[in-house]
Amino acid sequence: EVMSFSIAIDGPAGAGKSTVARCAAQKLGFVYVDTGAMYRTIALYMLEHKVDVENQNALEKALSQIEIGVRYQDGMQQMLLNGVDVSGRIRTQEVSDQASVTAAKPAVREKLLNLQRELARHENVIMDGRDIGTRILPDAPLKIFLTASSRERARRRYAELQQKGEVCSLEEIQREIEERDDRDSHRAEAPLRQADDAILLDTSDLSVEEAVDRIVNLAETAMRDAKRKEGARR
Ligand code: CDP
Ligand code: CDP
Repeated sequence: EVMSFSIAIDGPAGAGKSTVARCAAQKLGFVYVDTGAMYRTIALYMLEHKVDVENQNALEKALSQIEIGVRYQDGMQQMLLNGVDVSGRIRTQEVSDQASVTAAKPAVREKLLNLQRELARHENVIMDGRDIGTRILPDAPLKIFLTASSRERARRRYAELQQKGEVCSLEEIQREIEERDDRDSHRAEAPLRQADDAILLDTSDLSVEEAVDRIVNLAETAMRDAKRKEGARR
C-alpha cells in the first residue's frame, strides 16, 4: 500500500490557515481538509435545535442525532449535516462563537477524531485546525504553526467583512478574536498549542503568496526526506 503524506497546520483564528492551506494544497496536488468546518457544522445543529451544550445529556443526545458528511468537489470541501449541504450556513459570526464553545466539549472532539484521521489515511492531505499536530496527526512528517499578531488578524477579518459589505468595527473584531484565542488555548481538552516538532510561521509581515511558497518549499523538502528514509529502509 502507498503511504500517504500529511501536513498539519494549526494556529489561531485569522492566521490564514484556510487561505494558505487551500492554495498550497492546490500547488502540491494534496487534498485540503478544513477541520474547523466540522466543528462549525456541529455548532450549527446546536444553534438551530437550541441545544444547551452545557447540559451533558442534551449534548450527547444531540450528537447521537448528527451525521457529519464531508465531500470534495474541485478542491472545495463541502459539509453535509444529516445529508444537507450546510457549507454556506456555517460561515456566520454566531456559528464561529458557538463553534469554539462546542469544540471545548470532549464528546464533540471524540466524534470528529476518527473522521479526521480516516481522511488522512488514504490521501495526501493538508489538514488545518487547532490540534492537528498535537492530537489528530501526531506523526505527520510536516507540522506548521501558522500565526500572526491579533491586530493583524483582526485587520484581515475586517477587510473580508468590509468586502462583503458588512458593518463592523476593527476593535470589536479584535476583541472577538482574542476571546476565541483565549477559549481555544485554555480549554482542558486539546487546547491550541504549538507541537514541539512544529515549525513556527509568523505571517504578520508576509503576503499570502509568500506564506504559500514557504509551505510548499517545506513540503517538498519533507517529502524528499521521507522518500530517502523509505529508500534506506528497503
Ligand atoms: O483559517 P484562518 O482563520 O486561519 O484564516 P483565513 O480564514 O484563511 O483568513 C485569513 C485572511 O487573511 C484572508 O482574508 C487572507 O486573504 C488574509 N491573509 C492571509 O491569509 N495570509 C497573509 N499572509 C496575509 C493575508
Ligand atoms: O476560520 P477560523 O480560524 O475563524 O475558525 P475555524 O478554523 O473554522 O474553527 C472554528 C472553531 O472551531 C475554533 O475557534 C475552534 O474553537 C474550533 N476548532 C477546534 O477546536 N479544533 C479544530 N481542529 C478546528 C477548529
